[in-house]
Amino acid sequence: MYNLLHKLSVDLGARSYPIMIGEGLLGEYDLSDYVGGSQVMIVTNDIVGPLYLEQALACFPGKRVDSVVLPDGEQHKDWQTLNLIFDALLEKRHTRKTTLVALGGGVVGDMTGFAAASYQRGVPFIQIPTTLLSQVDSSVGGKTGINHPLGKNMIGAFHQPEVVLIDTNTLQSLPPREVSAGLAEIIKYGLIRDTDFLDWLEQGIDQLVACDSKALAEAIFRSCACKAEVVAQDERETGLRATLNLGHTFGHAIETFAGYGNWLHGEAVGLGMIMAADLSAKEGSITQAEYDRIVRIVSSAGLPVLPPADMSPAHFVNLMAVDKKNVDGQLRLVLLRSVGDAVVTADASPSNLSATLMAFCRQQS
Ligand code: NAD
Ligand code: GLY
Repeated sequence: MYNLLHKLSVDLGARSYPIMIGEGLLGEYDLSDYVGGSQVMIVTNDIVGPLYLEQALACFPGKRVDSVVLPDGEQHKDWQTLNLIFDALLEKRHTRKTTLVALGGGVVGDMTGFAAASYQRGVPFIQIPTTLLSQVDSSVGGKTGINHPLGKNMIGAFHQPEVVLIDTNTLQSLPPREVSAGLAEIIKYGLIRDTDFLDWLEQGIDQLVACDSKALAEAIFRSCACKAEVVAQDERETGLRATLNLGHTFGHAIETFAGYGNWLHGEAVGLGMIMAADLSAKEGSITQAEYDRIVRIVSSAGLPVLPPADMSPAHFVNLMAVDKKNVDGQLRLVLLRSVGDAVVTADASPSNLSATLMAFCRQQS
């Protein structure tokens, strides 16, 4: 029997939806009430499918459930792989009453959501995230899409799921490197809006790295609560939501430079947050001691603290120019106004930015 630990809501009026967090939900929890028609298409990949597809099928009693298995990896978050979902939907004659289900990490979640946003001009979808990162971030909030060779997540749509089902038991099969990647996004919430949470994370980081199930469930709950609050206030990222991108401008540049899949998204975000903190310190918003604290927590999570050895400041500048937050060619960054408070700004001094880039790239030689 499953154990439902937490139920949250993302409050978006008629499009509000629940986030269920618990143990043993997969295979036990009946999701058919969230399916309007009779057809379901589960989208997964060749790592997650063999582990959890059977259990996911059991969540839809009485429905006609098909599945499509994509190749695993960030390098497949592209048009070609997206098309495999449309091929399966059309081959199996799925109508506009179908419901798509994302079973996997953020890559499967983002692609399934985008397929749902566009198949027959939009069908509903359900998120069943199976990585820590997707349970605390990507499955909530309705950002969907794919990468372009010139930039991360450059093609996509906002499309909210009907429900997010988080079974924390799935984390038992997650490799340690992926746990660390998820911790980056968890630390992000502490840094941008919740210092109590940051203190709690700092004290419990070793338990989290060791995958202690009680600590992880609490971290997932607090992260989802934070994200749900932000999304409810600013679904389309006209302001507040952009602060969830702390570290992402530097991070996306690293991911694109390294080649999709070589640096994990969470690893790049972890280092990106350190670089944003360094720039925030140079701008005088946080102290050196606060910067050191941020480096300590990110590195205790098992995340890298230096960029790829062959990445130069010029590489950063060129890649950071392709960012969705930029307006009229002007770079906009998320910086810390203080620990626990972030701001989106175009006002960072160019010389401080150069100094940050040079400091991090120089440490390699
Ligand atoms: P991922 O989806 O690539 O998953 C990481 C790896 O773990 C993959 O190899 C996957 O197959 C495997 N895996 C998944 N669940 C597993 C399990 N339970 N046991 C064992 N292996 C498992 O990566 P991710 O970190 O989940 O997501 C990163 C993606 O999410 C990026 O593309 C990023 O851009 C996107 N993202 C989107 C949002 C959003 O708001 N939509 C937010 C953050 C990140
Ligand atoms: N991960 C950033 C967002 O959902 O807005």
